[in-house]
Amino acid sequence: MAQAVERSADGLLQVRLEAAASQLNVAGQEIPIFTYNGQFPPPRLEASPGDRVRIEFHNRLDEPTNLHFHGLHIPPTGNADNTFLEVAPGGSQRYEFTIPEDHPAGTFFYHPHYHGWVAHQVLAGLGGLFVIRGDLDEIQEVQQATEQFVILKDFATDFRDVSGGHMAMMAGREGEFVTVNGEIRPSWRVPNGELLRLRFVNTSNARFYNLALDDRPFYLIATDGGAIAQPRELSELLLSPGERADVLVRGDEGAASVNLVNRPYSRGRMGGGMMGNGGGMGRMGRGRMGRMGGRESDEAEVLATISYDGDPVSGRSLPRQLRPVDTLPEPSQTRRFVFNHGMARGQGMVFLINGKTFDGDRTDVQVQLGQVEDWEIVNEGMFDHPFHLHTNPFQVMSRNGQPERDRAWKDVVLVKAGETVRLRTRFQDFPGRTMYHCHILDHEDQGMMGIVEMQA
Ligand code: C2O
Ligand code: CU
Ligand code: CU
Repeated sequence: MAQAVERSADGLLQVRLEAAASQLNVAGQEIPIFTYNGQFPPPRLEASPGDRVRIEFHNRLDEPTNLHFHGLHIPPTGNADNTFLEVAPGGSQRYEFTIPEDHPAGTFFYHPHYHGWVAHQVLAGLGGLFVIRGDLDEIQEVQQATEQFVILKDFATDFRDVSGGHMAMMAGREGEFVTVNGEIRPSWRVPNGELLRLRFVNTSNARFYNLALDDRPFYLIATDGGAIAQPRELSELLLSPGERADVLVRGDEGAASVNLVNRPYSRGRMGGGMMGNGGGMGRMGRGRMGRMGGRESDEAEVLATISYDGDPVSGRSLPRQLRPVDTLPEPSQTRRFVFNHGMARGQGMVFLINGKTFDGDRTDVQVQLGQVEDWEIVNEGMFDHPFHLHTNPFQVMSRNGQPERDRAWKDVVLVKAGETVRLRTRFQDFPGRTMYHCHILDHEDQGMMGIVEMQA
């Protein structure tokens, strides 16, 4: 299905969004899903810096939900990006905010964020793109490239049957099959010589994608928070839930077709002594969890095919420079967040940050607006955890003490089992309470989330 696009006009993006139960036809099979406006992919919203956004949101589901605007630098309060709001079944909510004049261009997305229901609703299909057009899009080489959005989303034959059992919830639930823009193995025709801009978004609940273009290089130009400084050559790109990446693919290398593949990756490890109370996990033995996430094979799976044909174009080249990436000043504070899991009386497995599960009435951290801080995210558990912060993007400074090579704006960073990642952020512009959490949404729903209050 072609994706619907809603663009701003005369400085206003006004759109009606309705969440409802629906179906998706995947490879000839009808499966139950949740949709926005009856479609998958949901409408793609596009706005520019300075635009006003007004969304009339209606909940036609039998359960509470709401909207979050992942990655947008807008207020976390009122009826802007306020994830504390509840939209009851049958209820509605107007969301309204302004995209700041200096907002970077990038790929952002909207998805439900009503605590306790997030994983299930995202697994069912809720989550659409929110694109900001601006600086990066104006670079000539980027502008000339053919643009292709790549929404990576797994579905279950029936999401209502996907086990909410102990192990599945711990690992994070995945659907049995992967779709790209709601299709199985789409193919894209591109003229010979054309530069292709692939805009990847992982909107899955828990599944990671370890992407490659057969054995060809490709060039990263933007991460979660927009452009990086110069294109960076990659041969593989690991995208955890919530992450985005824009890459350029050269079309002048003489191949007739290239496959976008998903290579095996295991997102956790079993090992003794890492659980809060020992528990039964040690009995499963050591080593990477080869089958975690349902991939039975060690082979790369083809997600899509790019075929080069049609009238060739010439003169396409990679841009040399993209956009300068600011360096933040030295932090005024360093804080430490330890991610782990354990057992809680009456609750079973819980996911913890600094020994606590989420409590919407508790403020975990208070920061001063305008301050720069370093946050050290320590993963002491046996599952990988993609760390996500709302409202303000961050830069990864180091991983296990090794300095990161280049600066890039991120809002999700993968912290693998056993790793420590240090990130730096500035709490800018907007006071109020906002959230940080693991973006394996089953972990978030099971408590791996905290609240930071930004004080004016
Ligand atoms: Cu994409 Cu708090 O979420
Ligand atoms: Cu978010
Ligand atoms: Cu997690």
